[in-house]
Amino acid sequence: MTSFWSIWVIVLTVACLALIFGLLLWNLKNYTGVEEGESCGHEFDGIEELNNPLPKWWTIMFFACFVWSVFYLAAYPGLGNWAGLFKWTSSNQGVTSMAESKQAVIEAHENGERVQLDQEYRAADERFGPIFKQYASQDIETLVKDEKALEIGQRLFAQNCAQCHGSDGRGGLGFPNLTDNDWLYGGTPDKIKETLLNGRVAAMPGWKDALGEQGIKEMTAYVLSLSGRTVNQKDADAGKAKFAMCAACHGMDGKGSVAHNLPFGAPNLTDNIWLYGGSQRAVEETLNHGRQGVMPAWKDILGEDKVHLLTAYVYSLSNAQ
Ligand code: HEC
Ligand code: HEC
Repeated sequence: MTSFWSIWVIVLTVACLALIFGLLLWNLKNYTGVEEGESCGHEFDGIEELNNPLPKWWTIMFFACFVWSVFYLAAYPGLGNWAGLFKWTSSNQGVTSMAESKQAVIEAHENGERVQLDQEYRAADERFGPIFKQYASQDIETLVKDEKALEIGQRLFAQNCAQCHGSDGRGGLGFPNLTDNDWLYGGTPDKIKETLLNGRVAAMPGWKDALGEQGIKEMTAYVLSLSGRTVNQKDADAGKAKFAMCAACHGMDGKGSVAHNLPFGAPNLTDNIWLYGGSQRAVEETLNHGRQGVMPAWKDILGEDKVHLLTAYVYSLSNAQ
């Protein structure tokens, strides 16, 4: 808020409060010139107006509200740019990155500001941190047999992962299914943890310019034939002849990065499991324009201890005990 509007808001609010308070005081005085309880001399259809005072309970409540409002406006933010005597805020406003957020938390703490969200996080960390720490010291194989650990993992998943991977982890278009043992980056506890800590950025290039329309059609036929679909054999053969350009990431057999121990996250193209859809149109779209799926990094957001529990939960989804 610019200082003009800040002053505008403050003046208007204070003036309104003063006006209301004045009105109350004025009404407490007897300005009618008639004794209390006597008639004011007005009569409407047999109903007489008496000079009765304001009810006591109402007057007390009005005063209490007034005092509260003055206290509230002084103590908390809301009056223009006034930050409030308690330096209270709901969260670190205007923060746009994890680094900024961490910095803001430290600064707020040092300046004695009350940032409600930080305080709640700190209280939760103090209470639950030791529990997560204790789980973090156990290996994944042990945790997947621990029902309590998986229950906590499931809650973390529901809060942080379900919006993309679905509440049951089965994923959706562009978001991998985590329950099916078909992995882009590997399904060992180590690989899953690496994915969660550091995130992943997939880089499937587009081939529109390199292959041309006819080339895309042929390559699509070959890709579909890899998972046993019936296609135009002549097209598929022509596609196969050019598949070397895909092999660096998908492998010459199309079985994907994991099968060849490569770090690219290129899916297995032979199993009829599709990240972006297996219709001819969807595959053509993938080949024309490429795909760049992004899995966020959770190290800074959740911390390693929670990621460890989540790793156990994700691992348990495809490795039933
Ligand atoms: C903003 C959406 C989004 C959120 C939130 C998200 N993910 Fe992901 N995740 C993705 C995408 C997209 C990919 C696939 C990346 C790619 O295309 O290579 C992925 C990939 C993965 C993989 C790798 C799968 C494989 O086959 O190798 C795992 C494991 C995973 N996510 C687990 C999680 C967990 C656990 C959470 C919660 C802490 C989470 N994800 C939150 C979008 C998300
Ligand atoms: C630089 C490595 C790289 C090369 C080269 C590459 N791909 Fe990919 N491809 C990927 C990655 C990574 C993904 C996953 C994209 C994502 O998760 O967002 C992918 C995804 C795909 C998909 C989508 C699969 C699905 O499940 O929806 C198809 C189809 C595909 N590639 C075919 C090809 C073909 C055909 C070629 C050669 C013309 C090729 N790729 C070349 C890395 C590559």
